[in-house]
Amino acid sequence: MPPRLLLIGGGRMGSALAAGWAEQTLGPSFAVDPARPQLPGLQVVADLADLPRGFIPDCVVLAVKPQMAPDILPRLAPLTQGAVFLSIMAGHSLAGLGRFLGTAAAIVRAMPNTPAAIRRGISVACAGAHVGESQAVLCDALLRAVGDVAWTSHEPDLDAVTAISGGGPAYVFLLAELLEQAGLEQGLSPELARRLARRTLSGAGALLDADPADAADLRRAVTSPKGTTERALAVLMADWPDSVSRAIDAATERSRELGQ
Ligand SMILES: NC(=O)c1ccc[n+]([C@@H]2O[C@H](COP(=O)([O-])OP(=O)(O)OC[C@H]3O[C@@H](n4cnc5c(N)ncnc54)[C@H](OP(=O)(O)O)[C@@H]3O)[C@@H](O)[C@H]2O)c1
Repeated sequence: MPPRLLLIGGGRMGSALAAGWAEQTLGPSFAVDPARPQLPGLQVVADLADLPRGFIPDCVVLAVKPQMAPDILPRLAPLTQGAVFLSIMAGHSLAGLGRFLGTAAAIVRAMPNTPAAIRRGISVACAGAHVGESQAVLCDALLRAVGDVAWTSHEPDLDAVTAISGGGPAYVFLLAELLEQAGLEQGLSPELARRLARRTLSGAGALLDADPADAADLRRAVTSPKGTTERALAVLMADWPDSVSRAIDAATERSRELGQ
């Protein structure tokens, strides 16, 4: 039987997921979002009260902002019989979600990232104690529709995952901004500086994806002895290892704080 889904929140991440599911065969499936976006394959309603009477989904995907959880989750508790909850909300632990949904609820907590919008995301998921095997398989398929999926049985890993892959696209976009800015400082035209920054990052990302070599080896392949890249890397190596380590440490700590 094709799965019946209920998506709560059809914003950036919710709509990326819905687009990924569009090629899968679904049973009757709905999304709840007061902004009522158009979502492929899902019938969108403005409020839970607008769902058809007796609709029991196989999976409820929680994709609202974390601060909406106290308003919405208690209203979803009646669906816990038979449904697995897949939460992508940052900072809500399995135990915290269980306090809203009931301690016997089947809950999977996952952290995707925004390249999900082009099905190039990566999600890390962690299943709570009451999740059955077929429910884990369903959640895996729903996340896999928008990219790679890894599972962990150690929930605290999700704090570091949030810091590295959840926020990671922002660090890459920052590098694009900085490269573009540096190009302007060197006198390149705005159009060329922007094009070089974007193409260099997307091309290097695609190469990293296609080539199984270590990132360090790919870096060395660009770095001739006494050449220009070596000169730039000497500057970057003085700061980046420590900066990146401290940035990830700060984000991981913030994720832990949000989870309390
Ligand atoms: N963006 C990321 O990089 C990222 C990565 C990993 C995980 N996440 C998680 O994904 C979740 C969603 O993030 P997002 O960036 O997609 O946020 P978003 O774009 O703000 O999407 C949330 C959607 O939920 C809607 N909403 C508000 N109240 C609702 C209600 N009562 N019932 C149903 N829907 C409601 C919002 O409508 P209005 O706009 O009208 O309020 C909005 O369309 C967050 O919990 C976040 O932690 C995000």
